[in-house]
Amino acid sequence: MSTKVPAIRSQALERGVDLERFPAHVGVIMDGNGRWATGRGLQRLLGHREGYRTLRRVLLAASELGVRYLTVYAFSAENWRRPEDEVRGLLSLIEQAARDELRIMHQNNVRVQVAGRTDELPEGLRAALEHGIKTTAKNTGITFTLAINYGGRAEIVDAIQGIVREGIPASEITEELLSQRMYNPETPDPDLIVRTAGEMRWSNFLIWQAAYAELFVTEKPWPDFGGDDLIEAVLSYQVRTRKFGGV
Ligand code: FPP
Repeated sequence: MSTKVPAIRSQALERGVDLERFPAHVGVIMDGNGRWATGRGLQRLLGHREGYRTLRRVLLAASELGVRYLTVYAFSAENWRRPEDEVRGLLSLIEQAARDELRIMHQNNVRVQVAGRTDELPEGLRAALEHGIKTTAKNTGITFTLAINYGGRAEIVDAIQGIVREGIPASEITEELLSQRMYNPETPDPDLIVRTAGEMRWSNFLIWQAAYAELFVTEKPWPDFGGDDLIEAVLSYQVRTRKFGGV
């Protein structure tokens, strides 16, 4: 294995990032693809295509920086309300990405998982995701979670339905039990949520898990986001004191 320090790590150190206090789990609301495209007179789908290129770079940067879990909001349960051609285009872009990126992700020791009602996705996309999950299941590097057909409230509903189906008595329902029934219970709660394109909203993203997460919002639309912005988000996270309700 190479002993070379990746350029992004040196850059982070130069900017004063404390590599010992890195957020283990970063969630990203990748917003602004549409605005990025229409602002250039392009079709919205070209913004999503550019957003895909950004995601590749950011996944690599996060992995080199030592982030253990990266969760991205690729398609929300509400995104079905978009025009049919955008929905189709976006889902087929994700399917193509899942197939095309698998080899490189596997080589980089990335473990892939999904969060969301994947049983409602088109067959081809589901198969590509399942293949990616299976192939990378034993990898030990960064865990990359694709939130797809995902809604935070739906996740809580799914968890409760499972609990009720099993006949678990009300007195045994605790926060710990609910956490165990989320889509990926072994994934720690996010420490930092990054949102691009300036909106100060949660948009139903990881609402159970992000109860104590720090939020970083940048004005930049997702296609313009880069490793340097990730470093800035981490720096902003590191200057805050997390209190978890204490003093
Ligand atoms: C929000 O921008 C972004 C999305 C709904 C989709 C995110 C998808 C990608 C980054 C593309 C590829 C993903 C993978 C996993 C390969 P928006 O369209 O809501 O932007 P707007 O608010 O400017 O309209």
